Amino acid sequence: MTNLRIRAVEAGDLIPVDLPAPRPDVDGARWRRTRVAVADGQIVGIASVALSAATDSYFCEVEVVPGHRRRGIGTQLYAAVHRLTDPRFPVLARAMDSFPLRRRFAEALGCSVVTRCPAPWIDPPTPAAESWATGQQAPAGYRTTVIGDRPLAIVKDAWASSFAWVHRAFGAVHIDRIPQMWDQYSKGVDPAASAVAVDRNQTIVAFSLVSPDAWDGRTFIVAETAHPDQAHGTQVLGATVATSVTVLARRGTRRVQLEGHTTDRHTPDVMRSLPAVGSDPMDILRLEPPPAVSRGGCR
Ligand SMILES: CC(C)(COP(=O)(O)OP(=O)(O)OC[C@H]1O[C@@H](n2cnc3c(N)ncnc32)[C@H](O)[C@@H]1OP(=O)(O)O)[C@@H](O)C(=O)NCCC(=O)NCCS
Repeated sequence: MTNLRIRAVEAGDLIPVDLPAPRPDVDGARWRRTRVAVADGQIVGIASVALSAATDSYFCEVEVVPGHRRRGIGTQLYAAVHRLTDPRFPVLARAMDSFPLRRRFAEALGCSVVTRCPAPWIDPPTPAAESWATGQQAPAGYRTTVIGDRPLAIVKDAWASSFAWVHRAFGAVHIDRIPQMWDQYSKGVDPAASAVAVDRNQTIVAFSLVSPDAWDGRTFIVAETAHPDQAHGTQVLGATVATSVTVLARRGTRRVQLEGHTTDRHTPDVMRSLPAVGSDPMDILRLEPPPAVSRGGCR
């Protein structure tokens, strides 16, 4: 490709409508870098790489305008942002089944699957979903409740505990940095539809956190038990998710996606029990560094 330049975003850059708005470079715990590809004075691609501080890993996104694809621009953008990362930490990317190009591109770079999230959808206001929700009863000694008017922060410790054990399967977890991630994530969570399960001591043992219209018109539910060895974990979790589903059914909310990792013992069981109307499975892929591009393939 002649005349291609990859550089940082500059004031006054015109970003084409089919590219995402550039996210600013950030230092520190939420380190992030964005680079653009410029061909003949026009921005034709964008890549960003962001540190996930609590897990010593990066997430990478690359996007090229349709008219300039398959000319190596995406590969060059990836190489440019990869060069800016700490080589000790892996660079990860998300590949949803609904976006097959992401996977093709990642396979060309060389990648391995870290985890697969089945991501089933349900439509809460349907008889099948309502019947599923009604069938999810909390075991004796537990009760579920919508967070409602209470501060959302009541679930912070349970979320942090679950974040730590779920992500430990992928590597080091910095417990001290999890609160920052909560602050960021919890901004999009709706307490009126989110639910918790508590035991006899009123300790929160599971949660179902609802982010309305989180992406692509879908509402996301992130649900986990606070601890991996939770007694009756699947039943407790199912009842917690059902509490959220009941609220969403009343609202008429459709396309509700249950998020979760298959490394968890309970979430896959709850997912299997759902009357799913579809799914958009997502792989978290570990991308090879640029010198390995020619190897290709996805292990
Ligand atoms: C994925 C994307 C960034 C690729 O950009 P690009 O500039 O076309 O990528 P490259 O030209 O460097 O392609 C590198 C290799 O990826 C694979 N690839 C890219 N697009 C492909 C496609 N449409 N079909 C099959 N393979 C494809 C090919 O192996 C390609 O090598 P080749 O052209 O020599 O066969 C671009 O298609 C895009 O913006 N898609 C939408 C957003 C997206 O899914 N981003 C990925 C997030 S990480």
